Amino acid sequence: MNDPTRRQEAIQRLLSFKDVKGFKKLDGDIHQHYRFFRQLGKGSFGEVLLGEHVRGRVQCAIKVIRKKGIEKHQILVNLMHNELKVLEEASHPNIMRIFELLEDAERYYIVSEYIRGGELYQRIVNLKSFTEQKAAEIVSQLVLAVNYMHQNDIMHRDIKAENILLESKDPEDLRVKITDFGFACFFKGERQNKNEVLGSPLYMAPEIIANQPYDAKVDIWSLGVVTYILLSGRPPFKGKSRAEIFESIKASGESIDFSGSWWGPISKDAKDFISKALEKDPKKRASAGELVNHQWLANIEQDQSLTKRTQLEIAESLQEFRSFSIFQSGVLSFIANTKASAYDLEQLKLSFLQMDVNKDGRLSFEEVKSGVDKLAGSNISFRYSKTGYLSLMHSIDKDRNGFVDYQEFISAAISKASLANRENLASAFRTFDRDQSGLISVEELKCVFESAESKKDAGLWVEIMREVDKNGDNMISFEEFAEVMQNKIIAQSHVSTRTQTNGGSPRVIY
Ligand SMILES: Nc1ncnc2c1ncn2[C@@H]1O[C@H](COP(=O)(O)OP(=O)(O)O)[C@@H](O)[C@H]1O
Ligand SMILES: [Mg+2]
Repeated sequence: MNDPTRRQEAIQRLLSFKDVKGFKKLDGDIHQHYRFFRQLGKGSFGEVLLGEHVRGRVQCAIKVIRKKGIEKHQILVNLMHNELKVLEEASHPNIMRIFELLEDAERYYIVSEYIRGGELYQRIVNLKSFTEQKAAEIVSQLVLAVNYMHQNDIMHRDIKAENILLESKDPEDLRVKITDFGFACFFKGERQNKNEVLGSPLYMAPEIIANQPYDAKVDIWSLGVVTYILLSGRPPFKGKSRAEIFESIKASGESIDFSGSWWGPISKDAKDFISKALEKDPKKRASAGELVNHQWLANIEQDQSLTKRTQLEIAESLQEFRSFSIFQSGVLSFIANTKASAYDLEQLKLSFLQMDVNKDGRLSFEEVKSGVDKLAGSNISFRYSKTGYLSLMHSIDKDRNGFVDYQEFISAAISKASLANRENLASAFRTFDRDQSGLISVEELKCVFESAESKKDAGLWVEIMREVDKNGDNMISFEEFAEVMQNKIIAQSHVSTRTQTNGGSPRVIY
């Protein structure tokens, strides 16, 4: 690898936090790394706890799975590995994100973002049903997430109100994320059709119940059930037992029963949406790609929009990102992943969704190009030549798959000046400094960023150290770390219009 650009690319790839794959064996006790607080939920094979990274002081949710509990059954082990493969691949605003996977002799630990608003299920129980506008707001996010999954050959197989979490406890804030990929799997490459009977009875598609081979359309059925429940507060198919529910699904006719008085005020479009999702024949059932463009969702008021100023800030951040060194962009991606403020993330999410014209949850070159043009508006300083766009795309698309995924976009588009403050740098530094000696060694750097690929190329680390380790003692002190990070980043932020980094709201992690 003598070609300097290829080398740059290789280093950049391995410095993106999301590239850290597979379980890491814990050195020492889990409690040295994470503090555990209360239980957030109980799952089939373990519990989910609220936790905090000891050194980074980042809040998170930790799913703890006892090895003994699953290792008796190969299928459970396979499912767990499926879950993790899928979660490691997935990067979408409406899908829970994982931070790291750890294991010790007895347990697996899946560390993910903490989603603080509780289960959609609980919200339905409290509220009974949602207004049509609110239901559409929730469903439109779910459809985007499902479309993203299906485009990426992932089927979830357990979509239900318990596995949809709200980001906030605020009743007006209906941002949701899909979690629990415990039954998820990739469906291309392997057999297209699956036949394991999985899922929850209330949400199970007729083809699963009939024990027929099935495909990703089973998720659309479940989505139809969720939508029906959101609008009416009742499940479409009733029964006191699994068998009774299955009977009720089998016995139901071709069309959905909207006869209850509570369906009166509900629009035709909403009913059409449900009918297309709850179509018994999976071949005739709508696909996620069709539902994202359904009339019912198109009618939701698009009241959110970015101010001109925010648009220019994002354009500016994208431009800056191209000039960061490998180490800088790696550390910034790490901080963006763990510390970005909720306000900044909201603006970026909106921008990402607006740029994603075909709604598949990732940005193609064309979408980036026209999106950035729109952000820049008439401001020529953020316009690019054709090659300029290519190099922009190149710098953002870290894994070089030809598309910008959500996390890549966030890392590139977030305000670097607001992130590279001393507090966040200190937190990142503490996270990297595993033995808490006050210095980061190459070994410690590897623990954070190493991927299977980088193991093959020891020279990469020498290069990274050369940039940061100014006094050549083979260790990175906080001063060296902060200097490299704040160098250009702060200098470049002279024009920054980001006066209120956190939108004036209290600082929230994530
Ligand atoms: N990231 C998270 N943030 C907050 N709560 C969570 C998170 N992940 C899971 N939970 C809670 O824990 C419950 C069980 O987690 P889940 O992944 O669904 O496990 P299982 O596969 O056993 O159902 C969820 O229904 C939810 O209430
Ligand atoms: Mg669950």
